[in-house]
Amino acid sequence: MDLTRLQAETFLRGSEHHAEINSTNDRALDLCRDAELPVPHLVLADQQTSGRGRGANRWWSSDGALLFSIIVDAAEFALPESRWPQVSLTTGVTVCEVLGNVSSAAVGLKWPNDIWLNDRKVCGILVEVPPVQRGRLVIGIGLNVNNSFATAPPELQTIATSLGDESGAEFDRTKLLSEIVRQLEVDLRRLAANDPSLPDRWQSLCVLRDRTVSLDTSQQVVTGRCLGIADDGALRLQTDSGEQRFYGGVVRRIA
Ligand code: BTN
Repeated sequence: MDLTRLQAETFLRGSEHHAEINSTNDRALDLCRDAELPVPHLVLADQQTSGRGRGANRWWSSDGALLFSIIVDAAEFALPESRWPQVSLTTGVTVCEVLGNVSSAAVGLKWPNDIWLNDRKVCGILVEVPPVQRGRLVIGIGLNVNNSFATAPPELQTIATSLGDESGAEFDRTKLLSEIVRQLEVDLRRLAANDPSLPDRWQSLCVLRDRTVSLDTSQQVVTGRCLGIADDGALRLQTDSGEQRFYGGVVRRIA
């Protein structure tokens, strides 16, 4: 992985590459303690021993995936705290955009933080706010590129995929990463500027739209027909008691 080229081509001001690490998000959260750290800063790893997903979820990966976290300073983008909850969807739009340029497979966004390729999960996004140095955000991305799910644990084989599995081709990971980082800068600026093209994109990329979805909000399980994703990032469900909007939760069932 050519980090010098990557820094030259993108807004990154610092980067590091690990052959193996527990979690790039954990490392990035640790780095955030350093007020002098030049940001945006990339933490990239070939393998993770404790990759994390939302909640208690683990992130499984094998050689050939792109596993990375980017520390950004929200102030650099004039991104108010009220818009931080939309950074995950924005990043999803970014990755969909890049995947759409390199793959002919159907790319979509599964609210709130997954990307699907041909109806299977190809990418997960985990955005975290460090408890120190407020104002920084850690954007973690796990993208299945040249790793194959043919050798994955059986429970993943039918629900997850990689770019390689869907096309049979091998991808240049440096190029892909560079494109994601460049597009992310563009999209974070769009988010800060309230650019309506961004919610338009997450609405049109929503794979749950018109499907019956059961959402576990941790207080209740709500079932309804998905009306898409609202401009503020909420999941819209048409339920027996009318339209309801949700800002968090886990989609348990899709019919
Ligand atoms: C999810 O599916 O819930 C999100 C998965 C996010 C995985 C990525 S891999 C790189 C970064 N480091 C982590 O520990 N998690 C994210």
